[in-house]
Amino acid sequence: MKSWTKEERYRVLKSAEEIRELHERTILSDYRQSYHIQSVTGLLNDPNGFVFHDGVWHLFYQWCPWGAVHGLKYWYHTVSKDLVTWQNKGVCICPDTFYDNKGAYSGSALPTPDSVYLYYTGNHRDEDWTRKPYTCLVDLKDGGKAVKLPPLFGMNEDYTEHQRDPKIIHDEKSGKNYIILGAQTKDKKGCVIIYSSDSQTENWRFEGQLKVPGFEDFGDMWECPSIETISGYDVLIFCPQHIRLAGRGGSVHHSGYLLGHMDWESLTFTPDNTSFHVLDFGFDSYAAECAANPNDRTKATLVAWMGLPDASYPTDEEDWSGCLTLPRELRVRDRRLIQQPLDSLRALRGEKLDLEATNVLPRVCELELIGRGGDLTLRLFAAEDGSGGLVVAYDDAAKEITVDRSGMKQRFNTELGEQRTRPLPKGLFHLRFFIDRSSIEIFVNDGDAVFSSRIFPTEGENRLFISGDASAHLWRLNRAVEDDFAV
Ligand code: FRU
Repeated sequence: MKSWTKEERYRVLKSAEEIRELHERTILSDYRQSYHIQSVTGLLNDPNGFVFHDGVWHLFYQWCPWGAVHGLKYWYHTVSKDLVTWQNKGVCICPDTFYDNKGAYSGSALPTPDSVYLYYTGNHRDEDWTRKPYTCLVDLKDGGKAVKLPPLFGMNEDYTEHQRDPKIIHDEKSGKNYIILGAQTKDKKGCVIIYSSDSQTENWRFEGQLKVPGFEDFGDMWECPSIETISGYDVLIFCPQHIRLAGRGGSVHHSGYLLGHMDWESLTFTPDNTSFHVLDFGFDSYAAECAANPNDRTKATLVAWMGLPDASYPTDEEDWSGCLTLPRELRVRDRRLIQQPLDSLRALRGEKLDLEATNVLPRVCELELIGRGGDLTLRLFAAEDGSGGLVVAYDDAAKEITVDRSGMKQRFNTELGEQRTRPLPKGLFHLRFFIDRSSIEIFVNDGDAVFSSRIFPTEGENRLFISGDASAHLWRLNRAVEDDFAV
């Protein structure tokens, strides 16, 4: 594994030519995705600034150009008209000022009548490498050109250096704008801090720390917080770090949410019960970002990084890593967030395959199963003799579903655990799998639970075995992202 010097990780990209050769090598990888957003070169992590404006969806990602390493971060820009087909636009925010000299970190977007504002964290570091984060603003002109405006505010000295990931929220009731940041108290507790302003671009002032009764001691840092209103509920989404959760193996970084009620006057989010719900039951999901639905402000679309902090992936060896999940429509049902693949994804369906005639599983496909009751086991990417593969097993007596990736030849992040289980008290009636060349997303019971994971099948890991009573449908899926060199 390559070891990186600080100079290599924080090298400034001066011209696209510096990474052309890397890109040409990257796109030859057998694991390049065909309908998921992936890094043009190097490393992708969080989705940022997801927004609909003037007929176009904008979605950015955290990007380190040089390899599969967290270093100097840029915002890379992609666009779509339908949330299915994506186009690479190139770099949008460069870390080229004093305020963001060591990275343009994560943030969010606010559409205005004639522009889009992008709020992000400027990861400033002094010469002695002391971090001083700034909350920065970009005006996205003409749908593409980033014009930097003066930073909104600097570091809050009452918290540690870990304060970042501004989410801009407009409160209809008070007419005020709020920015919430993920932060860490001086006694190392994760929290959210809040700023407000009547303007979008100036006069921001510190309001205080969000009170979340019952969650005062829940991890040492909360990354990427967001408060969304969905189906009449307020939803606090965040990523608590350095905390173990039941059923999450050795993982210490999580992405989840609380349902409840947000009161901006008292700065209190009151959860409606004491459970922190995991957003995604798979192995690789973090830093979810939501975009408001342009036609219905109470709905949102979510996308996440299909990866984890402090983890490594087989393509690190090929000098690239990371992709985003599919966008998912959010609703609340039975006091849980429901995540459904967008209807428009059906447009990607190509040839329908006859599962009576073949058990070869294409590398890019959608598989749907309608259960008829009882146990159900699927082996995906198994060998021809039925051994190995990714096992998805529903146990009807225990009423739970388990995904196990320990049978795959390429195993990785094994210390985080190789099985994930989710109870299904009402049984299993529906499964939808979206498989791309190095990922799998499993939607259980119409979005009741989602498992997102990277997988890296090798030659010969290409069969599908289903046992149990279910009807199954399999389609090839068409390409929806181009692997082009836009920088
Ligand atoms: C989450 C995160 C954010 C930060 C960004 C840097 O994965 O650590 O908190 O802004 O990534 O790339």
